[in-house]
Amino acid sequence: MAETTSHFLALTGLGREGLLDLIDYAVRLKDQTRAGACPQSMTGMTAGLIFHKASLRTRVSFEVGVNQFGGQAMFITDREIQLGVRESIPDAARVLSRYLSLIVIRTFHQADVEELSRWSDVPVINALTDLLHPCQIFSDLLTIREKLGRVEGLRIAYLGDGNNVARSWINAARLLEIDLQIATSPKTHPGNDFLQAAMEGARGGVTVTDDPSAAARGADVLYTDVWASMGEKEQIAERTALLEPFRLDAARIAEAGERCLVMHCLPAERGREITDEAMDGPQSVVFDQAENRLHGQKAIIMWCLGKT
Ligand code: CP
Ligand code: NVA
Repeated sequence: MAETTSHFLALTGLGREGLLDLIDYAVRLKDQTRAGACPQSMTGMTAGLIFHKASLRTRVSFEVGVNQFGGQAMFITDREIQLGVRESIPDAARVLSRYLSLIVIRTFHQADVEELSRWSDVPVINALTDLLHPCQIFSDLLTIREKLGRVEGLRIAYLGDGNNVARSWINAARLLEIDLQIATSPKTHPGNDFLQAAMEGARGGVTVTDDPSAAARGADVLYTDVWASMGEKEQIAERTALLEPFRLDAARIAEAGERCLVMHCLPAERGREITDEAMDGPQSVVFDQAENRLHGQKAIIMWCLGKT
């Protein structure tokens, strides 16, 4: 195994300076791409995109990003490789490393992504697990930087399920000076063990509350995500009963103020965790977030390949 391979498994792997530098790099790369001068840094390379869950944004933006760098992307579902079933993850990782220059994986267990990375000679990027969604929050920080001019000294209110997206926000607050307010029910808490481990020596702060108004007041960003993630959709009725008070709607936006950004990683279940009025209103930046998945992930790819 190559010791120097840079995997992107969680935001925390970047460190604070690394994260801030990579956001700067993403800004430059976006400008270059828009000027028609995207570096051809992946000529002759193939990236494997292993997806065990559905995806619109992540899959399409990774494929487009690799193509823009002059490389090729190969989409691989579990029908083909049956990772960990047809053969072990270490064996699959060693074989894939002989063909590919980069592996992007979206799956259920964070431990599987970590095991794949331990055995892979090429960089592995976490494209979402049940635990974390680091590509999303990295790209969202790029959007916040563009809209507010900075990513620190901000109050971010996350309303709803304490899921993979919420935990990646916690990791962002570990690295950056962010006042993260998570408003959720006790039953949908992001997990005390995770929170405690993440916040040891953290730069920012995290408050978990069941009072959505207290979280929203004075927030620079109001953020939400679906109430039942992929793999747990059958729990939606129970979650809806718990999370109704945490909907992102006009009342919450009024509490936050007129300069607050409204964010959602998408896909949205309109009318459930976010109203149409909030999502389509003047403070919403949800489609800018979606666009920045492309630019953010391109920066992550270059970081992994050591080409930033
Ligand atoms: N936000 C996000 O990751 O979207 P997809 O699930 O469509 O990739
Ligand atoms: N929490 C959601 C995010 C989708 C991008 C899920 O895991 O389904």
